[in-house]
Amino acid sequence: MALPEWDGELTSVRHDPDTGAWFVIGVHSTRLGPASGGTRAMVYPDPADAVADARRLAGAMTLKMAVAGLPMGGGKSVIALPAPRAALDDATWQRILALHAANLNLLGGNYTTGPDVGTNSADMDTLRTLTPHAFGRSTAAGGPGTSAPATALGVFAAIRAGAAEAGLDGVDGLRVLVQGLGAVGSGVARHAAEAGAKLIVTDVDPARCATAAETFGAEVVGPADVLTRECDVLVPCATGGLLDGATAREVPCAVIAGAANNLLADPVAADVLRRRGITYAPDFVANAGGAIHLVGREVLGWDAGRVTERTLAIGDTLAAVFADAREHATTTVEAAERVAVRTLTGGAPR
Ligand code: NAI
Ligand code: PHE
Repeated sequence: MALPEWDGELTSVRHDPDTGAWFVIGVHSTRLGPASGGTRAMVYPDPADAVADARRLAGAMTLKMAVAGLPMGGGKSVIALPAPRAALDDATWQRILALHAANLNLLGGNYTTGPDVGTNSADMDTLRTLTPHAFGRSTAAGGPGTSAPATALGVFAAIRAGAAEAGLDGVDGLRVLVQGLGAVGSGVARHAAEAGAKLIVTDVDPARCATAAETFGAEVVGPADVLTRECDVLVPCATGGLLDGATAREVPCAVIAGAANNLLADPVAADVLRRRGITYAPDFVANAGGAIHLVGREVLGWDAGRVTERTLAIGDTLAAVFADAREHATTTVEAAERVAVRTLTGGAPR
């Protein structure tokens, strides 16, 4: 397999013939501190896709940590599963976690993991019995618990900042379309509903849509309508890669602010959004609440109040990013990257 170039520090790859799982860890940067980022466990078409995903996601974690002002580098683990997690028996999953822990131990603390798509706090509890290089344990096990509420609060702060930048008058009455009603999306939906937004929701799981309709009076649309349904704010909280150059040309909204990591499938998309006058809150800025929660509570010893304060500050960071993008006539992604680069080049190397 031809390996593409990468600007990260290290990629580790391991295959387990017994389960058929592939384990990839991308350590993108340790400049600001040990690399950190979640463990994503899902099925990939090919191990090469898992390598590419781990590297892309690790790079985004470097930017996320730097912009959020957290003393950590960026990394990510991807476990390419032989079958969807729900279809794996417990023994297989436990073996996969044990091998992942062994890989983390080999990296000796240069990379610490946490939960991501396909893993949760209970998995971190298990990992932590096998390695010190995992955080995000459940509260029952003495950890800070799920990062989702903090991520949702940060995304809501991003929605407010994006609406202000777009000249919309607060969230009250705005049409807010939430894609993905999982741990984060349902939290964002609640904040938006409480602020008076007219909620529109979609999920591939109809039961989640039905709950949102009942709880918040949300209008439900089909998953395929997400890029064509007119709204004021689009809030992607499902998987990444929703917008490429073509879909960015069509999406009918004024603001995009969500949690999904690596939302833009290609770099052209950000420029298309800028030219169309759509305010885009870069994913690695808007969704940093989870990282702030996990690193703040477990690494820096912050209390819940400090985490909330720093999470709400995502709105101020975005206001500065939007202003910088306007001033330099660049995309908001480039403006946020400038903030990250300033921190990365100004931060004391370890
Ligand atoms: P989750 O797995 O709890 O929820 C995802 C939801 O999206 C599920 O309800 C799923 O059915 C739905 N979904 C999947 N594909 C869809 C599609 N094509 N159309 C509509 N709905 C679809 O995940 P969670 O924790 O809520 O995270 C959401 C996103 O935010 C993920 O991309 C994750 O990487 C990102 N993120 C999450 C953080 C956290 O603290 N949980 C932190 C930063 C980013
Ligand atoms: N996976 C989440 C994210 O992408 C939460 C997380 C943050 C996990 C930092 C580990 C470290 O932000």
